Amino acid sequence: MVIHFEKVTEAHLDSILSWLLETHVMEFWDNSQAHKDDIVNFIQGRKTPSTYVDGNYVYWIASIEYEPFAMLVTIEETHKQDIGEGKLKRLSKTGHTYGLDYMIGNTKFFGQGYGAITLSDFISYFRESVDPKADTFFIDPVSNNHKAKHVYMKAGFKHECDFMMEGDVSGAGKVHNLLIKKFEPKISINKATISDYPCIQNMARFYVYDLSRECGSISSDWAMPEDGLYESFDFKNYFIDPSRKAFLVKVYDEIAGFVLLTQTTESSANSWNMGEFFIIAKFQGQGIAYQVAKEIWNMHPGKWEVSVIPNNISALNFWEKAISEFTFGAFNKQIKDVSYDEHCPRRIIFEFDT
Ligand SMILES: CC(C)(COP(=O)(O)OP(=O)(O)OC[C@H]1O[C@@H](n2cnc3c(N)ncnc32)[C@H](O)[C@@H]1OP(=O)(O)O)[C@@H](O)C(=O)NCCC(=O)NCCS
Repeated sequence: MVIHFEKVTEAHLDSILSWLLETHVMEFWDNSQAHKDDIVNFIQGRKTPSTYVDGNYVYWIASIEYEPFAMLVTIEETHKQDIGEGKLKRLSKTGHTYGLDYMIGNTKFFGQGYGAITLSDFISYFRESVDPKADTFFIDPVSNNHKAKHVYMKAGFKHECDFMMEGDVSGAGKVHNLLIKKFEPKISINKATISDYPCIQNMARFYVYDLSRECGSISSDWAMPEDGLYESFDFKNYFIDPSRKAFLVKVYDEIAGFVLLTQTTESSANSWNMGEFFIIAKFQGQGIAYQVAKEIWNMHPGKWEVSVIPNNISALNFWEKAISEFTFGAFNKQIKDVSYDEHCPRRIIFEFDT
């Protein structure tokens, strides 16, 4: 069964207007003239302003074998609209967020098991053909629409919170469930060349600044410089020494950090050392660092060591969890003074075989 999706056109209008009169739709869907006018406004190419949600809705039709049976509505959710605290704090930090609304209007298809599959297929279609950066979807049925909630959870949505719908919109004054479906953002790890050296060296300032949060009191070396610009070691050797490797991390097309690998290890039995590893602040706390580390380990099979300054508690927690998950607990952890860093020799070293 292939479900076809397309934007609503004039050819669908009569079907939609008849669907809006179906009892099962009228129970939970807006049947106002303003909504109907907005659909017509959309079909006519939004040449005139619409007061219905500022004309921001995009209307879609789902068909099976040329027979239209469902309408979906999308709206890009951003901080620019008054979306309420619950949605605001759950907007994607990596890509784009869309709100959805959905009805199966054609009674031949209603209650026949098309609910969850149509929604899942639409989201796949939308991410493949409309906006590849769409990685977070909201849907917010009124709290007594138990069937819709069941169907959405079957389609992979998770119930996040409840909120009171406010404003001059359908459903205002009623409690709604906020359900969310999230996808991992597209992360790329590209081998960096000498032309990426200035970018990585510039980012290294922010790496040092970030590290200073927990390591800043280790010694006077970490004091804020007089000119207000943190300095890092020069990382040029990662671009010219053949035993070292540099990688630039991107989330979609935005630079998100770097990974610098060395084969200088404390134990001669080990092949690879995670020399420097940085994910910038806006992309921290979202599982991206773990995905990057995992990918790097998969790209470099062998015996590894990761050494962490003991004061860097959050990094220690991250590496312990990441290495433990990746190796199913098969790793060693010890505290040692390393020979390759005279400034900060005391390290906690994780050793494992990928
Ligand atoms: C929501 C909607 C799209 C779902 O489509 P559907 O064709 O009814 O759904 P399906 O037949 O695929 O599935 C119905 C499922 O809900 C379950 N269900 C039915 N009534 C239920 C209820 N009161 N509480 C919980 N689950 C219920 C069914 O058992 C079935 O579950 P299963 O697939 O696990 O067996 C459709 O009902 C609809 O258009 N409703 C009117 C508009 C609407 O409410 N839209 C939501 C706006 S947010």
